[in-house]
Amino acid sequence: MKDTRFPKLVLGINALVPLVLLSWDIWRRRAGANPTEFITRTTGMLALIFLTVSLAVTPLRRVISANWLVKFRRMLGLFAFFYGVLHLMTYVAFDRFFNLKSVPADVFKRPFIALGMTAFVLMIPLAITSTNEMVKRLGGKTWSRLHRIVYLAGVAGVVHYWMLVKSDTRLPLTFAFVLAVLLGYRLLVKFAPPASVGTGSGGGRIFPAP
Ligand code: HEM
Repeated sequence: MKDTRFPKLVLGINALVPLVLLSWDIWRRRAGANPTEFITRTTGMLALIFLTVSLAVTPLRRVISANWLVKFRRMLGLFAFFYGVLHLMTYVAFDRFFNLKSVPADVFKRPFIALGMTAFVLMIPLAITSTNEMVKRLGGKTWSRLHRIVYLAGVAGVVHYWMLVKSDTRLPLTFAFVLAVLLGYRLLVKFAPPASVGTGSGGGRIFPAP
């Protein structure tokens, strides 16, 4: 796929649809009895979904030999960060009422907030270094190594979610399972014996070369 402008436009519009729907619900006062919780949960869920989908790109690209998928990875990651920023802003505005001094105490009081903060902070260098210019400046190897942090951000995000869910843990468990599969695949590719690692576009092997 050479010209990705149109598919990127489609992806961008689709990624913004949940935000439009959320804004519409708030505008029409249909955000439930607790709008803060509604907004926080929606933006948190979107951040985690985009992060997980961006993590799925590399394994999927290798398994189905669809290298073009990589062209959408940065956009997916940036949408994860974008919804993470909205999530954090909702927390700061409606949970802390802009009292930034109360944030550190809350981090210590509620461990799931600490995990959320960790996930968010880990996403910052990834967003900053997402430009072509930064890839060039850091060099491909360093950039790739740095971007492995994304798995830590994913783990922190899932644990954050798991910790705040009180009874029904099925959804956080599902995220944890998907994350474990994606991370497991990456580790297998890295440490599998060379014989099981194919070359080129896959060659029908389980672990095509990176
Ligand atoms: C920036 C620091 C963060 C703070 C302060 C924070 C805070 C919160 C709060 C207060 C809630 C609502 C808890 C409740 O209603 O009981 C929440 C929910 C959630 N957060 Fe975060 N969070 C942060 C970062 C993140 C990040 C980076 C992700 C994803 C990668 C994330 C994913 C989620 C999810 C999935 C939920 C639950 C959604 C649901 O219940 O459907 N959070 N967060």
